[in-house]
Amino acid sequence: MRIRPLTAADQSRVCQFIQARWGAEIVVAHGAVYHPDQLPGFVCEADGRWLGLITTHIEGDTCEIVTLDSLTEGQGVGTALVEAVKQAAKTRPCGRLWLITTNDNLNALRFYQKRGFVLTAVHRHAVTISRQIKPAIPLTGQDGILIRDEIELELRLDN
Ligand SMILES: CC(C)(COP(=O)(O)OP(=O)(O)OC[C@H]1O[C@@H](n2cnc3c(N)ncnc32)[C@H](O)[C@@H]1OP(=O)(O)O)[C@@H](O)C(=O)NCCC(=O)NCCS
Repeated sequence: MRIRPLTAADQSRVCQFIQARWGAEIVVAHGAVYHPDQLPGFVCEADGRWLGLITTHIEGDTCEIVTLDSLTEGQGVGTALVEAVKQAAKTRPCGRLWLITTNDNLNALRFYQKRGFVLTAVHRHAVTISRQIKPAIPLTGQDGILIRDEIELELRLDN
């Protein structure tokens, strides 16, 4: 398995991947609409098969993880993709790596906190607002929990 940066040639495949994982080609978070197929990121692949994908949005000296998906969980794919983004962000240099997850995503909360990210904010009802832009966002998520709030996590890169 290897991690490599996305290129323009990956665009349609990213589009299909995001559609399959996120129910649409767009991602909506904190009031922003993202087109992951137009974002920088990394893919984890083995023999041409995609095992995971991470996309990012860089603004100023902050780098946001817009999407992270592993198709083969528990084998180090997610960790390797976050590490690739972390190193790229440090090189740029960015002082802050951050992301939004949703209140139901206990697995992501565990995953990111175990990798040094800390909770910085809870945006109540933010997903309810995002759903007006992207109706494909399901009402319930993991463990049947209502998806309603956005939780912001960050990793400082400047210390
Ligand atoms: C969150 C997510 C990206 C994690 O990806 P992943 O590929 O399972 O991540 P990893 O394999 O690197 O780590 C998961 C666990 O597997 C364990 N693991 C990693 N490699 C392993 C190996 N070779 N053997 C055994 N266990 C291993 C890790 O220790 C880790 O456990 P920990 O988090 O308790 O430390 C994945 O669950 C996912 O795609 N979720 C759905 C989308 C999502 O929620 N995205 C994030 C919000 S935007």
